[in-house]
Amino acid sequence: MDKQQEYCGIITGFPVSFSKPANLMRKILVTSALPYANAPLHIGHIVEYTQTDIWSRFQKMRGNECWYICADDAHGTPIMLHARQKGIPPEALIAAMSEEHQADFHDFRIGFDNYHSTHSDENRELASLIYKRNLAAGHITSRTIVQAYDPEEKMFLPDRFIKGECPKCGAADQYGDNCEVCGATYSPTELKNSYSVVSGAKPVEKESEHYFFRLADFEDMLREWTRGGHLQPEVANKLDEWFEAGLREWDISRDAPYFGFEIPGHPGKYFYVWLDAPIGYMASFKNFCQKNNLDFDEYWAEGSDTELYHFIGKDIIYFHALFWPAMLHGAGFRKPTTIHAHGFLTVDGQKMSKSRGSFIKARTYLEHLNPEYLRYYFAAKLGSGVDDIDLNLEDFVQRVNSDLVGKVVNIASRCAGFISKRFGGQLSDALSEPELFDSFAEASESIAEHYEKREFSRAVREIMALADRANQYIDEKQPWVVAKEEGRERELQDICSMGINLFKVLMVYLRPILPGTAEDAEAFLNVSPLQWEDAGRPLLAHQISKFKALMTRVDPKKIQAMVEASREDMQAKPQKAPAAGKKQDAIADTIEFDDFAKVDLRVARIIKAEAVEGADKLLALTVDLGDETRNIFAGIKAAYQPEELEGRLTVVVANLAPRKMRFGVSEGMVLAAGPGGKDIFLLAPDDGSAPGMKIK
Ligand code: MSP
Ligand code: ZN
Repeated sequence: MDKQQEYCGIITGFPVSFSKPANLMRKILVTSALPYANAPLHIGHIVEYTQTDIWSRFQKMRGNECWYICADDAHGTPIMLHARQKGIPPEALIAAMSEEHQADFHDFRIGFDNYHSTHSDENRELASLIYKRNLAAGHITSRTIVQAYDPEEKMFLPDRFIKGECPKCGAADQYGDNCEVCGATYSPTELKNSYSVVSGAKPVEKESEHYFFRLADFEDMLREWTRGGHLQPEVANKLDEWFEAGLREWDISRDAPYFGFEIPGHPGKYFYVWLDAPIGYMASFKNFCQKNNLDFDEYWAEGSDTELYHFIGKDIIYFHALFWPAMLHGAGFRKPTTIHAHGFLTVDGQKMSKSRGSFIKARTYLEHLNPEYLRYYFAAKLGSGVDDIDLNLEDFVQRVNSDLVGKVVNIASRCAGFISKRFGGQLSDALSEPELFDSFAEASESIAEHYEKREFSRAVREIMALADRANQYIDEKQPWVVAKEEGRERELQDICSMGINLFKVLMVYLRPILPGTAEDAEAFLNVSPLQWEDAGRPLLAHQISKFKALMTRVDPKKIQAMVEASREDMQAKPQKAPAAGKKQDAIADTIEFDDFAKVDLRVARIIKAEAVEGADKLLALTVDLGDETRNIFAGIKAAYQPEELEGRLTVVVANLAPRKMRFGVSEGMVLAAGPGGKDIFLLAPDDGSAPGMKIK
């Protein structure tokens, strides 16, 4: 068949060794998922951008035409509300966020060829075009649906913007789709005392006309495509489950107010953010083509023989492996060559957590550590599958220090001094051990194949095995001994020249992963940017520059500081969820009198107090409120012996929603004050109070 077919084999063993006549140069378009313009990047994001960047840098080094394209994903309700909360237009918010994202990307050396926005003219035109073509082909339908509506803000509410009491356990302030306390899932209409997160008003149900993409029209095409080598096997299996469950119509419209593109011919209706988000890949590339006089159609027209790869996280497979190829197909564009999904980042074996300080923003990382460390660590862990990858902070320090500093950089630092001091920076004119050099150069194809197949951890393993051999060579030849002996000048120059040539080969292989270190190494070696073919070309009778330390060891104290800073980030944040009845933007450090008035403070008599097994700080109290008794857990064990408390009067918050704790349900709160530890004093009412008496 056509070239496209032939190229599909690239993923599974295309002979990467071919030398490239111009007509065989591959033309490759690569994308990473477009980050939401709503939040700063964190190190989980960096997994994906590093993975894609390594792959695209590798393709460029191989002499292929490869464009790495991305953009900010700028539309949707959260962005609209976020801007409103800040009191700025959404355009201003997304502009600021784009700048912040791009600065982070730049500093992590993510080498996009173009970075654009989904809120762009190119995207508006392409989204309309794709919609209109699918409409004309009969793939769009409409019907009326009923949805939760905020009567005060006059807007429909996505599930995440409705809160209320869990219908199962009664926990307060739970989101519209699931309870964080008991884990129940439900629909927003089941919540008790529900309220809009935007205005605090009680949502009502309201009808609206919505537009749908008929995904099932594409079932045959998608089933075939799914099995056509465009997906990782585990992803293809997941898709089979979705086919089994049935392909439902996809709601692609949202009502005003919405930050997005109005649907042509339907004023007040907007494209759902996920419709125009992947089209943002095309839009960013179109913008790039216009700036660089390139042919957009060469890459996107149906039947194109160029390659198109999307790198994404496993959470957004449905959008990329079903909706996206269907939309493209329906509009007469080419479909992706492959979609490559990766797993999620955990830190020290757990989901990134703000309270543990492991929810580390990209910028916080950069303020403490060299980006090359993290790029290397991720590469050393990344394979072609969708498994989650773990950043173990201890292992990170150990690995970077032993591999990069202890092995790779060490080779150059052990040889460079002699060459510059004793030989004026001049390398020998011949290799003293050509077989050793050749064995390094010969690894080129197998390492390239690992890169090509996105088996970066394998590439790293092979490169580090070579680094071990290079160090072994230097250990055996002992240039520091040779240097002290007379008449062995030539030998010394040869040994060090060999060492530096081996180092150069390693830098070729590591360059996709360590672009910054490679740049410094190129300056030291006095060579132009290294290409893959340079692995086989020794530097002979060549002048090198003075050696400067290419990388310093990871200082564990900096890791500590980064974790601490990440914890602080969290504390500095204002409370996220608004209290019922309050506007989100009214949230500050104070509460209104109305809020205070809601607190039902009552006098209670402690009738029983006991220690809680397995809890260091808690006492289980049974309190008498006059007309009922309650069980309350209180963290005052360090301050009181249980016996001291029995019979005493205290103040409790009587209308606090019950809270499920590890030891049982707590049905209120006992008020206490003090600096903590032993010095906590129960707020006790004056004598004469009776249980049940209201305070305030
Ligand atoms: N805006 C959408 C993507 C639209 S693509 C047309 C989105 N944005 S995101 O900012 O939430 O995520 C961007 C990418 O980062 C996604 O591929 C996502 O899977 C990935 N990651 C986000 N958190 C991650 C981890 N903790 N670990 C690894 N990747 C993570 O989704
Ligand atoms: Zn619940």
